[in-house]
Formats: sequence, structure tokens, C-alpha cells
Amino acid sequence: MPETTPRAPRGPSGLAFGGDYNPEQWPRDVWDEDARLMREAGVNLVSVGIFAWSLLEPAPGAHEFGWLDDVLDLLHANGVRVDLGTPTVAPPAWFYRAHPDALPVTADGTRFSFGSRGAICHSNADYRAAAADITTRLAERYADHPALAMWHVHNEYGVPVSACYCDSCAAHFRRWLARTYDSVDALNEAWGTAFWGQRYASFAEIDPPRATPTVGNPAQALDYRRFADATLRENFVMERDILHRLAPGVPVTTNFMTALSQCDSVDYWAWGREVDVVTNDHYLITDGRRTHVNLAMAADLTRSVAGGAPWLLLEHSTSGVNWQPRNPAKAPGQMARNSLAHVARGSEGALFFQWRQSRRGAEKFHSAMLPHGGTDTRVWREVVELGAAVEALGAVRGTRTEADVAVLWDWQSWWAQNLQWHPSEDHDPRERADAFYEALYDRHLTVDFAHPEADLSAYPLVVVPALYLMTEAAGANLRDYVENGGTLVVSYFSGIVDEHDAVHDGPVPGPLRDVLGLTVEEFNPLPAGGGVRLRGPGGAELTGDVWTEFVVPRGAETVWTYTDGLVARRPAVTRNRLGRGTAWYLSTRLAPAALDVLLGAAAEDARIAPRAALPRDVEVVRRSGDSGSYLFAVNHTASDAKVPLEAPGTELLTVERAAGRLAVPAEAVRVVRLDG
Ligand code: GLA
Ligand code: ZN
Repeated sequence: MPETTPRAPRGPSGLAFGGDYNPEQWPRDVWDEDARLMREAGVNLVSVGIFAWSLLEPAPGAHEFGWLDDVLDLLHANGVRVDLGTPTVAPPAWFYRAHPDALPVTADGTRFSFGSRGAICHSNADYRAAAADITTRLAERYADHPALAMWHVHNEYGVPVSACYCDSCAAHFRRWLARTYDSVDALNEAWGTAFWGQRYASFAEIDPPRATPTVGNPAQALDYRRFADATLRENFVMERDILHRLAPGVPVTTNFMTALSQCDSVDYWAWGREVDVVTNDHYLITDGRRTHVNLAMAADLTRSVAGGAPWLLLEHSTSGVNWQPRNPAKAPGQMARNSLAHVARGSEGALFFQWRQSRRGAEKFHSAMLPHGGTDTRVWREVVELGAAVEALGAVRGTRTEADVAVLWDWQSWWAQNLQWHPSEDHDPRERADAFYEALYDRHLTVDFAHPEADLSAYPLVVVPALYLMTEAAGANLRDYVENGGTLVVSYFSGIVDEHDAVHDGPVPGPLRDVLGLTVEEFNPLPAGGGVRLRGPGGAELTGDVWTEFVVPRGAETVWTYTDGLVARRPAVTRNRLGRGTAWYLSTRLAPAALDVLLGAAAEDARIAPRAALPRDVEVVRRSGDSGSYLFAVNHTASDAKVPLEAPGTELLTVERAAGRLAVPAEAVRVVRLDG
């Protein structure tokens, strides 16, 4: 990408505030009111035109840009910058009449119909040509528009259709395989096709992993996920390159959804390298868990995908959404806590889906900045208040969130781990990642996520929740990390298979045997609802569930021992000294509170000083950089809290001096710019 492309939306300094703006859903007289109210709320950035293809090109080749010209001019006149969409996630009805093959096909052969959005076969040549054409025309027309801050390509690649299984995708897949493997014999070896007589004589014989009578080849399924992800990325890069060429200097983004519960089909490590600005959409999943912990995790993952650099929250909700089984409203103050918690973890602003709540269509019950009830509403008043808060925090722009520890994460391992016929369906890698994250959050440690092959030397502690797929290179990386003084915590079912889902040669866990100083002779998952007891230092007891193993120490010391079941008297938790570092291994599933015991011991090895006593659910995060050092305190509890300050400073939302212990009222946020 050109050196000159900025890594943030072009526009005024300070943080961004706004949302998706869909004026095409409203008569023109509403637009003037929109502009006036955007000024009132302090909106300075909106995403426009994401779904507007059928309005920009109502018939093939017949373009109508006049209305969009007017929208951009109006926004510009009101000081609002535009994140301009390429509408390629929603091709018009006429396009599908002409090219019915562009509708995607499921693994069992169902072809989707028009009438929603995102119904796209990304291998389809007609789709690619049409997407390139509308992108070119938008870039030619708006490259120099003064309102243009950033391009918003497509929408949420990877959902609602993560892969298509049509004949055109089959042909594309074969070409991808031929590029990836030197020969069909190399593929046969990698996929283990000697098993169940699946050997191929040529690439031409290979299909996508369509419906099969019983379990299909896991390596084929894993490669198809890689292929589907790469195909989406090809189309993003195609649009991005058109935009870079025709509008040099304007950054290009596409909105990610890093929360696994919202999109798990794209490898954001790879995507993060392709965009100029990492942007994310985040929605609270109200399934009874602590939503602010899940939010923090998604924000940390987004920042990590951005390489630690600032990113931008492009969508979240002011209140309830409309697509979960039950969609509660946010409590008073919760929206601001959510928004500013994202800012604490590196977002350069807070944008929402959407500006004005729709009256028609599938999302009319989704909250917005300007609700059906208009300005005399709680949501609107909180939006205006938040706009002022975001403005007051402008100085944090460009600063970086400081992390304490790293958690390894890899989408490819996640894909492999979710393939069928594994030792226990009760083991869920996402649950393990969530649980370790939650335990670290409760220790008030800020987490960076890291790719298993990334440089880990900056982190005193690295946690590996359940990294089933681990390359030899990743194993060597972890070994170096520990030998050079790092502290590693590894959870069970890590380091099992290589990049082709083949079990590493020799005893499990292949690339981790030396670093952990042990082998695992057998997995012994527990019956549904079953538990297992562990005894540790000083006779302390813990209970695990779901998983146990026959661990054989080969150098590691046993710290906790199983006391019942088939694994009684065998090691449950081990610790191995290697070089200047230490590697812990945990062979059962512990809930976050029990994990804390283990993480406490590992944190001691890592010489991470315990955080000054902070109440649970009072989140403290630091951002720092050229403009200074900022402490964010987010109080998710119903009680007032005190947060110790390491230096005096100025609280930016109240503009009051703060020293010693910072008062953070119940459910409030405080941000102190520390002196010095
Ligand atoms: C996604 C989409 C938006 C909207 C919201 C609703 O993030 O990008 O267009 O549908 O969900 O929550
Ligand atoms: Zn297809």
C-alpha cells in the first residue's frame, strides 16, 4: 500500500463520533434535520452508502449520483466527514436477474435468493466485474470531495455467508490448491487421503467439502476455510487497489467483527495487514455473561489485529439490537461506559449503527442515535452527552494502550479445532479463551492477543488457552520465549496438530514437549456434568471438569495432582524450568476463579506485581504516547469506587484536578491525563 496513505480517517484532530447514516431511507426534508442534529450531538464522521448500490445504479450502467452529491455536500457544509461505502455487499435485483450464478450455494446445494444482503459468490466473475465498476465510478466521482475521510469497502466480510460451494467456487478452489501445493501428490500427503480411500489422481477430481454421508476429510475442510477467506480478501484487495489508485492518500477500511460470536470465518491476522485503518463492529451478546468483559476482549483483539496501533470502533449500539433472541435496552450510562471502554483499549472514537432508527426494513427495532421517539428521549440525551465526552478526550488520539500480558490466538487453529470427531464435544476453544481472558481481566491485567509465531519477548507472561493447531515454528517460538526468561501458561489440547490437521509426529504435544517437559499419553475427557478434584500446594483443592489427561512428566515438576477418577495420583498441573524461564501446563478445565490460583503463581514467576487493590468490575486501562499518559477508569459497578493514581493529573470529563485516589462514581467513567 502507498506510503502516503494515512492510518486514520482524514479530518479534524481528536476522536471520531457518529454512525452509519442511511439518508436513502428518508425524504429529503429529513436530511436537513439530520445535519442540524448531528451538529447538536457533536457528530463528525458518518458511514454513508454501504447498501446504496440499487439507488446509485438503478439500471445497468445508468448511474444516479446526484442524491449522493447532495448528501456529501450537506454533510460537508455541517462539518461532518464521510466514511464512504462501496455498496458491493448489496448488488441490485437487476444484477441477479442477469447473473443468477452470482447467488451463493450452501454445502448441501441450496442456492440462496435475492431479497436480503450479502448474497454473493465471491468467485463469480460477473460479480467481481460489477463490484470493480461501481467502485471505480465512486472513486472517480468522490476522490476529491472535501467531506471524504475514508473508504468503507463492502460490509463485514465473512458474514452472513462465509463460503460458497458452487461450481465456480469449485474451479477457483482447484486453482488455489494448485498454487498452494506443488503437486497433487503433495496434496494427497498433506490431506492424508490414503485414509478412507480418498486419494486424488489430479486436482480436477477435487471438490469443495460439500455434503457427505459421514465426516469428510478434515484437512480438506480446513483448506476450504482458508480458501474462502483468501477469496474474500482477494475481492477486498481488488476494491482497495482501485481506491488507492484513483484516490491516493485516502485510507481504506472494511469493518471487522473480531468478536468470535459475531464472525469466526475470516483470519483477521491476515486482514489486519491489508487495511489502512483497522475498524471494528461490536455488539453486546446478552447471554447472561459479563458483557463488559466480552467487550474488553473484542477491543483488545481488535487492537492486536492492528498491531497495537489505534483503531476505530465503527459500529456499536446505543441500546438494544434486534437480532438476538431477546434484545434488552442498555441501562442508563451503559452506552457511555461501552463506548469509552473501547476508547480506553485503543479506539480513536465511537460510532454507531445507526444514526436514525429505520421505520421500515429488517432493522426497524434496532436502536439508533436518534430513536423513533426523536430528541425527547433518554437515548438522545445520552448520545449528546457522549458526544461531548468524546470531544473532551480528543488528546488521547494517537496514543497506544499499554498491555501487561499476551494471550495467543489463531483463527486457523479455531477452525481446525471445530472440526468433527474430536475427544469431547464439551471442549470449546472459545470458552477457554474467554475463561483465561476473564481471569486476567479480574486481575486487572490488560491483554494483547498475539499470533503464535509473533515476537513475544515484550511480555513477561504469555497464556495459551487451547491452541490445538500449532506449527513447528510456533513451538520453536514458544521455546525461545521461555528459554529467554518468559513465563508461559499452556492449557490442554494445545500443540496437537500441524497446519494440515495432522497430529505431530511422536508423543503429544509435539512442538511443546520440550518446553513443557512432559508428554501426554492419553486424553480422558469426563462424562457430561462430571468433575475431577485436584490437590495442590499446602493441601489446597480445586475442581476441574470436561477434560483430564494422562500426563507423564519428563522434567517438569508436578504442582497439582488429581485425587479422583481414572487419573487419580497423576499430574494435573505442572511447572517446567527451561533456560531462564518457566512453562506451566494445565490438563483440565478450570473456571476463571480457579484459573486465578494458577495465574497467580505464574504471575509471580513472571514478576508481575499484584495490582493495587481494585474492586472487581472497575476497569483500569492506560493509553500513552506523545500527547501524554492517560488513565481510564470505567466503573461497571453500582457503588462509587476509588482508583489509586501513580501521579496527579487532570480528569478530562469533569476538568478537575485529581491526585492520590481518584473518585469514580458508580457506573461512571473517568479519564485522567497524568502530569509529567
Ligand atoms: C452489522 C451491520 C450493520 C447492522 C448491524 C446491526 O454490524 O454491519 O449493517 O446490520 O449489524 O447490529
Ligand atoms: Zn460460489
